[in-house]
Amino acid sequence: MKAKAAVIHGLHQDWSIDDVEVHAPKAGEVLVQWKVAGLCHSDEHLVTGDMVPPKELLDMMGLESMFPMVGGHEGAGVILDVGPGVTSVKKGDHVSASFIPSCGRCRYCSTGRQNLCDLGAGTMVPGMITDGTHRHFLNNGTPVGMMAKVGTFSEVACVAEASVIKVDPDLPLESVALVSCGVATGWGSATNRADVQPGDTVVVVGIGGIGINAVQGAKMAGAKRVIAVDPVEFKREKAMEMGATHTFASMEEALAPVMEMTWGQMADRVIMTPGVLHGEMMETAQNLTGKGGTMVVTAISPMTSGTASINLFNLAMFNKEVKGTIFGSLNPRADIPKLLGMYRDGQLKLDELITRRYKLADINEGYRAMRDGENIRGVIVND
Ligand SMILES: NC(=O)c1ccc[n+]([C@@H]2O[C@H](COP(=O)([O-])OP(=O)(O)OC[C@H]3O[C@@H](n4cnc5c(N)ncnc54)[C@H](O)[C@@H]3O)[C@@H](O)[C@H]2O)c1
Ligand SMILES: [Zn+2]
Ligand SMILES: [Zn+2]
Repeated sequence: MKAKAAVIHGLHQDWSIDDVEVHAPKAGEVLVQWKVAGLCHSDEHLVTGDMVPPKELLDMMGLESMFPMVGGHEGAGVILDVGPGVTSVKKGDHVSASFIPSCGRCRYCSTGRQNLCDLGAGTMVPGMITDGTHRHFLNNGTPVGMMAKVGTFSEVACVAEASVIKVDPDLPLESVALVSCGVATGWGSATNRADVQPGDTVVVVGIGGIGINAVQGAKMAGAKRVIAVDPVEFKREKAMEMGATHTFASMEEALAPVMEMTWGQMADRVIMTPGVLHGEMMETAQNLTGKGGTMVVTAISPMTSGTASINLFNLAMFNKEVKGTIFGSLNPRADIPKLLGMYRDGQLKLDELITRRYKLADINEGYRAMRDGENIRGVIVND
């Protein structure tokens, strides 16, 4: 079947709205109509090249280029059809995208670490996770890749069963889409990876779709102070509405006040969620972190940059730690439904996260607004 999709054809280009031919699902695959897609910063990294492998890595992967690629890894939709052997969803079911597939059987899935599922490797190589062949083609017959193998910027996509999670049909699909990446990643960065404890002082750096949910998670975990850092005033105001107790325009500006309010102890947890994380930012993050404190790296750094300013003497002598996280170190199959249940019961704020809704054709305007700091989250809504 034909679908419209936002495709990126090369670095530093606009998203192009193309017709994509989507083939029927084979064994272990489903056809999904994406109804809502979130404009996460991670897709922007495809445009800037921060998440595009260098030539040596492409050679290793047997790829000439990552492009063309349908974008989008945050989304929610409805199952149109299922291939042979699919058991977890059926036609008509509502699903959340899961940008990390979960097989449920590998070493990581079976030990409660679905965010590290071995199938994740399949999202970086050409073709379907299931059998390596293609289901999506441009008009000229060229196969087109799918961001995280879900490609939520397409009206319809063929994806592995492992990449979708059934959700209750009464939930608004906009809420489901938000939870599928930004909410889970930010909330889990605070509650799970940073392991925020009641009474903690927590700093969240960068208040976009991810950081705002780290604020929300830190507050829910009982932090005494949730200090939100963002250069954009609107983001700081929004952070206060979502649970922050203090805000600052930069990490540097936060240093002296955090020292004063903690009587020199500094923050217990510092969560890094800026749009792009440059290695030198870790020096100030470390200065904001107190003895025994934890820095969580959630934001993406340019893939090829291999250095960060961490003072290892200070790290050792003050017993600090730096932790990376993918998907907030949560389990998509358990935690996406869990977060949606908390939303339904009024504990988790989701409606407040959407700043603007766009049509697929207006995706470039949506990303301009994200870059200019106008959106907490923009979402594409397909009629
Ligand atoms: N680890 C994961 O699993 C995962 C998942 C999703 C997104 N991400 C990454 O998380 C990051 C945030 O994504 P997002 O969608 O929230 O982005 P966003 O663009 O919506 O928000 C980023 C915010 O950071 C602010 N910012 C930029 N530089 C800053 C600085 N020096 N100090 C303080 N604030 C600064 C911006 O003003 C903006 O408000 C991105 O790098 C994204 O790729 C990681
Ligand atoms: Zn994302
Ligand atoms: Zn697995």
